[in-house]
Formats: sequence, structure tokens, C-alpha cells
Amino acid sequence: MSTASDSVPRHIAIVMDGNGRWASKRFMPRIAGHRQGVDVLKRTVRTCVLRGVRVLTVFAFSSENWKRPPDEVSALMDILVVALSRELNQLKKEGVHLRFIGSRKGLSERVQQSLLEAERETAENITLTLNVCFNYGGRWDIANAAQTLSAAGEAITEESLSRHLSTCADGDPDLIVRTGGEMRLSNFLLWQAAYSELFFSEVLWPDFDEAALDKAIAAYASRERRFGMTSAQLPGARNIAS
Ligand code: FPP
Repeated sequence: MSTASDSVPRHIAIVMDGNGRWASKRFMPRIAGHRQGVDVLKRTVRTCVLRGVRVLTVFAFSSENWKRPPDEVSALMDILVVALSRELNQLKKEGVHLRFIGSRKGLSERVQQSLLEAERETAENITLTLNVCFNYGGRWDIANAAQTLSAAGEAITEESLSRHLSTCADGDPDLIVRTGGEMRLSNFLLWQAAYSELFFSEVLWPDFDEAALDKAIAAYASRERRFGMTSAQLPGARNIAS
């Protein structure tokens, strides 16, 4: 049982897995699965806005994805640039604030420009923050925060480190969803996941529709988040003694 008014997660994070398998099942190139994945991401953003989710963080390209065949890597870069140029106006209308999280090192000038433009153009939007983790790794995020603190001569504490993580403006994810049937975090938001509820779906990302997202949200609503406390200590808990 969740605590009152917590039935919709404020911050959802998603590992969008299963694009390649979705395409292979249809005898299509893997990249067709990634293209379909962009459409699903668009619809997911809309559903999140309708459900009152405030932050959506998605894993679009991990630090480890550079190990994929070069044509898949360059196709993913192209998909990102094309999707941004096609969808930016609509995202602006929907009140979506786009942020890209991850290292910009290794990204081409063209990709970097397109990320910067999308961030600049949507900076004033407040309905939903969409964090796209691109060239991102959880270990990179933690190391980066530690290096920033160390360079500034600041003490490294849980609090100071949290303040320097790439998602510090958005709070930790309440719910992390991974599609595609695998049950691991794969270097996604490692620090931020400390108290996230986890939901693993068998559905491949290109098939992840509104009903699948609602199922994840319903599972979240049924969890009791205790953050180390006992049930009786939670706000709204019935006092058994009285
Ligand atoms: C994992 O599926 C998916 C990715 C590495 C890319 C995710 C990208 C998208 C959903 C498209 C949206 C992208 C941008 C750039 C906004 P996989 O390829 O590992 O699938 P598999 O496990 O079935 O092989």
C-alpha cells in the first residue's frame, strides 16, 4: 500500500530496452526498432503529461553503447538529430523542458549543436522535464560529481555528491521501469536509484503503450515506500494502540 497521494510517481525513469529484438522478430534491421522507439517515446511523454508525472528520464545511449557496430552508433546519432528537428515545435507546445544528461565528449559538433538548441528552445517550459540520458553512465555521473567537488576543495558527503549529480534539479526517480524483460540497471542512475521502486516489463520498448505504462504506475501505487522506517511510522499509518 502506498502512502496517500503518492499514487502517481513524480519522477519516472525508463530503460527503453528491446528495440533490436522487436525489429529482428519482423526481419527488419535493428535501426527500425530504434525508429519505432522514438514514436513510443513521444507517446510516453504525452501519457506522462496526462497522468501528472513531472519528470521523465530515459536512457537513450549509454557510455557502453559505443561498443555497438559503428553503423548502429551513427544511426542512433542521426535518429536523435532528426527526431529533435522534427519534434521540437510539438514538444515546445506541450510544455516539455528537454535536458540531455551525459558526457558531451565524443559527440560530433552537429549532435552537440542540436542538443544545445533543443535545451535552449525549451528552457522556459515547466509542464514536464524530459531528461534524455545520452552518452550517459551512472558511474560516470558519480565520478564526475566527485571530481567537481574535489576540484572545488569541497568535502565529499552524501549530500554534496547528490547536489552535483546530473539529475540534481529533478530529485531521485520514484519509479524506474525497464522494458524488454531484462532485470538489471545497466549503469543507469546508480546513485539516484537507492530508493526507487523498480518495475520490469516483458514488453519490448517499441510495443510499450499507454496500458503498459499504466500497469507500471499501478504497480508503483501498490508499493509501500518505507525509506528504512517501519509501516507504523509512515504518515497516515493507523495507530494500532489507540
Ligand atoms: C536498447 O534496445 C535501446 C537503445 C540502446 C536505444 C534506445 C533508443 C531509443 C528508444 C530511441 C530514442 C532515441 C533517442 C536518441 C531519443 P536494444 O537495441 O539493446 O534492444 P535489444 O536488447 O532487443 O537488442
